[in-house]
Amino acid sequence: MAREFTRVGVVGLGTMGAGIVEVFARNGLDVTAVEISDAALERGRVTLTGSTDRAVAKGKLAEADRDALMARVDFRVGLDALHDVDLVIEAVPEHLDLKQRIFAELDRVCKPEAILATNTSSLSVTEISVATTRPNQVIGIHFFNPAPVMKLVEVVRTVVTSAEVVADVEALCERLGKVDVTISDRAGFIANALLFGYLNHAVGMFEARYATREDIDAAMKLGCGLPMGPLALMDLIGLDTAYEILDTMYRRGGRDRRHAPAPLLKQMVTAGLLGRKSGRGFYTYERPGSPKVVADEHTPPAGDAALADGARVVAKVGVVGSGTMATGIIEVFAKAGYEVISVTRGAEKSAKVCEAVKTSLNKGVVRGKLSEVDRDAALGRITWSATLEHLADVDLVVEAVVEELSVKKALFASLDEICKPGVVLATTTSSLPVIDVAMATQRPADVVGLHFFNPAPIMPLVEIVQTIRTSTETSATARAVCAKLGKTGVVCGDRSGFIVNALLFPYLNDAVKMLEASYSTADDIDYAMKLGCGYPMGPFELLDVVGLDVSLAIQRELYLELREPGFAPAPLLEHLVTAGYLGRKSGRGFRDHTNR
Ligand SMILES: NC(=O)c1ccc[n+]([C@@H]2O[C@H](COP(=O)([O-])OP(=O)(O)OC[C@H]3O[C@@H](n4cnc5c(N)ncnc54)[C@H](O)[C@@H]3O)[C@@H](O)[C@H]2O)c1
Repeated sequence: MAREFTRVGVVGLGTMGAGIVEVFARNGLDVTAVEISDAALERGRVTLTGSTDRAVAKGKLAEADRDALMARVDFRVGLDALHDVDLVIEAVPEHLDLKQRIFAELDRVCKPEAILATNTSSLSVTEISVATTRPNQVIGIHFFNPAPVMKLVEVVRTVVTSAEVVADVEALCERLGKVDVTISDRAGFIANALLFGYLNHAVGMFEARYATREDIDAAMKLGCGLPMGPLALMDLIGLDTAYEILDTMYRRGGRDRRHAPAPLLKQMVTAGLLGRKSGRGFYTYERPGSPKVVADEHTPPAGDAALADGARVVAKVGVVGSGTMATGIIEVFAKAGYEVISVTRGAEKSAKVCEAVKTSLNKGVVRGKLSEVDRDAALGRITWSATLEHLADVDLVVEAVVEELSVKKALFASLDEICKPGVVLATTTSSLPVIDVAMATQRPADVVGLHFFNPAPIMPLVEIVQTIRTSTETSATARAVCAKLGKTGVVCGDRSGFIVNALLFPYLNDAVKMLEASYSTADDIDYAMKLGCGYPMGPFELLDVVGLDVSLAIQRELYLELREPGFAPAPLLEHLVTAGYLGRKSGRGFRDHTNR
């Protein structure tokens, strides 16, 4: 029989604590909510009231239930109020000495049988537990932000936590409607160990002015389907908390440089820019604690800035190639009203591409997304050719041929001879340096990367890759074209992986390393990222869809260009590829897909 919890305590009512109080009280538990001062207690009460009022306004909570919920919470200053709770969870700032002091005090104040839990994200639960005389009753219960929304709880068992305590806490999680994964005490547990390297890398990109905050965030939301971009997420977590988590993970987790907090983070924390809670972090918020972003001096101007930057007029577009990407790109341009010349290596290939475009457009008609008239008009705008010379008078060429530098360079050299002056020449490469392609022409200022995502007609993102030779007009033209296509164009520098792949694949690779180290299972890691961070797919699901060979190739490129030791491909990934386990396409990757 699992233990009955009737009254629980929460220490610290900040970003996490206030949400944890809400979770307990919503599920019928009485809560003693403790803060350090009257002012902090009042702040916590306001956060809780704000959150429950929003739930009422959204129709997710009845008014009577909100009142009952609030009535279950006893707000108190000082730990002495916790003498009668069955379990207490601590959510004070991420400092070991502070947590150890609080646990020693809780040990003194709480009933001998009470369970003492910490919500730490990165500190050692074991080190916290030894500050008490009951380390076997100390456990980590790691909630995710915002606690009332995110389904996951990581239950952290130390080597001395008793099995009954683990079972009792697991049963409690179930009562709270949460999904728990139980793991051992390692820096960052599952989710943060995979998340924070990525977040810190995104801060580094922003700090290096590789891309703007809006573009970095849009890239990850639209390119990967994440609920928030990394910089907006940093603001939600709190930059002081994020700094401490990174710093601890760096020290505890093998001094991986990717966890050494980006210098900008420290500066922002020192300057009081803590994210949402202080009203300003990477973004500016309506007021402290508000989720609403307001414009500030870094907000890009509204309206058509591309025209002001000298965007050239584009009416006629050439698309070179006959693969998946070329086919999708032809459709996207034709649907957006551009006149398109498709150039393939022969009539047979053109016929195949034409058929594929027709099939895709017909699907749009069947689904009611496109009228028959618009379909016919789009098809009527496409000319099919097998001769590059037909591109003599286009305004933009989009190259989407095989991912081989020599082939692309030869093609760009030919385009340089054929195309009229002032044409924008774009490559869709996802891994080659755009500058290499640009230098195959006599007009590198006119060359830019336009990295579409697969399937191009559906994915809303395009990465616009500027080399050090790309002119402002060329880049502005690319931005204007993306806008007309109805895509979000994000501008970035010419570095391996651009924004999305550079941030995504090291995270996937880290998940493989975690599996390889037997810290957790593929299922639990997938759960953790989906339910703790709101990812649409877990890393192993995604790797199997993308293809392990493709993922390995991208990861190798990143490693070769940046020489970051943490980017070295996971040996397990190499072995799976060598063994022919490539993911869904080969029937087996991290999972067996043959019977699904
Ligand atoms: N922010 C996140 O996204 C997140 C997610 C999961 C876990 N965590 C972890 O949760 C814990 C709390 O983080 P946070 O982001 O909520 O921090 P926070 O700074 O928002 O809140 C901490 C609160 O603790 C209070 N406090 C400080 N000393 C106290 C004391 N002696 N007694 C009582 N209250 C005290 C502060 O007044 C403050 O309200 C940390 O261990 C953090 O790593 C954070």
